[in-house]
Amino acid sequence: MRKQPRILVIDDDEGIRRLYQAVLGRKNYRVTLASSTEEALAVLSREKFDLVLLDLQMPGSDGFVFLDRLQQYEQPPAVVVSSGLATVENAVKAVRLGAKDFIVKPFKVEQLLQTIERTLTIEALTAELSDLQMVRSVLELSTAVLSVTEVEPLLERLADLLWNLFKPEAIFFFIRSSETANFILRKYRPQPQPERISLFLSEEEVKKELGGERVGMKELSGKRQLLALLQGQGRELGVVRFDFPAERPGLTEKEQSFLSGLLVQSGIALENAMLFQALNEAYLKTIRSLVNSLEARDAYTRGHSEQVAYYAVLIGRQMKLSERQLEILRNIGYLHDLGKLGIKDAILLKEGKLTPEEYQIIREHPRLTARILEPLTLEEGELEACLYHHEWFNGRGYPAGLKEDQIPLMARIIAVADAYSAMTSNRPYSRVRTREEALAELKRCRGSQFDASVVDAFVSLMEGNEPPPTKFAPKEISGL
Ligand SMILES: [Fe+2]
Repeated sequence: MRKQPRILVIDDDEGIRRLYQAVLGRKNYRVTLASSTEEALAVLSREKFDLVLLDLQMPGSDGFVFLDRLQQYEQPPAVVVSSGLATVENAVKAVRLGAKDFIVKPFKVEQLLQTIERTLTIEALTAELSDLQMVRSVLELSTAVLSVTEVEPLLERLADLLWNLFKPEAIFFFIRSSETANFILRKYRPQPQPERISLFLSEEEVKKELGGERVGMKELSGKRQLLALLQGQGRELGVVRFDFPAERPGLTEKEQSFLSGLLVQSGIALENAMLFQALNEAYLKTIRSLVNSLEARDAYTRGHSEQVAYYAVLIGRQMKLSERQLEILRNIGYLHDLGKLGIKDAILLKEGKLTPEEYQIIREHPRLTARILEPLTLEEGELEACLYHHEWFNGRGYPAGLKEDQIPLMARIIAVADAYSAMTSNRPYSRVRTREEALAELKRCRGSQFDASVVDAFVSLMEGNEPPPTKFAPKEISGL
């Protein structure tokens, strides 16, 4: 059974107020009477109503003024106006000011009750609709958020979602630090960061504030603060703090249950993202040690991967690539030759001329790199960049014979960085070239082996007024 609807009657005529009281009281409504709009506004500031029955013509401030004031409320009750002056102008004006229905005095009791019932039903359906919108947001969150595997973008999305959904004055995400028992401030809205906000919360503070609960609200001077835990399996991963203005009513029961639902999902997503990040870091460490073991086999190529990463990032920056793309270049700079691990020392370290068969085996190394990296979750484009770093711009490279922009840009950049690093390093089969000689060689092969725009970017940087330092002088490499 539905709860007893609350109705506020505003009418200056005492007889009519009594009539309303008698009629509506019999129909399971809870009725409150007010004899003026001022009195009604005072009652509304303290209590919530489902419906207001408003007389339009009253001495002093009339019904239109009341309707106008009500528009400033965040969730105003539905208003049905009653009037002895049944003009179209009055009806239109009242509806424009937000009235839901209009009845003309004198009215039949049946007619009044029908109007009230109809309005309450429409209001209930509208509320359900807005609940459905909230449910939709929750569903959108689960699909959007659960697909995010990195902590930073996940927090970004969560902050935006909670900000739009609950419209607080400010929202803060404190995330557990792996080193200490504190929760560190990682994300906030609005930006820039509001002044005088603590940068961390200690575990004790959180325990004290929440007293074992997952959500806690407290009143502070001029605002309400809500703390909520982001719970992982068996431990708290973070705390979300909402600051609401004091005038905002506390969260409704529905809002609270939505918030709890959201936070449970968010906790799971955050835990996944943290695990994923830890896994990725562990994976990168493993890869680094694999690269080290590759380089340890060959004194001449020690530090080569690091150099390639360094030059590739310089080129990327010169070509104004995004930070994300620079990160990818740095990674594949390290990884691109990993497949050489699968090539025998006798071939890889051979000082004399390679036979065609041996050369064919060496040419397999980009494919081997891709095969080693394939089971791991890499950024989009990383695997291809490793696979195609020996393709030539004119289509005469390997392993696939791709040409021009069939070759991913990242691979074209790695190719230039790789060649420059190789030419300026000490190799058993070739002498070290000077910086000028190496740049001249890149220019000679501009448009044939290498992408002209990549060569141009690198050359303009190296021949510019402030060329970047050469990270490792060849002597240092051979002396390692
Ligand atoms: Fe290579």
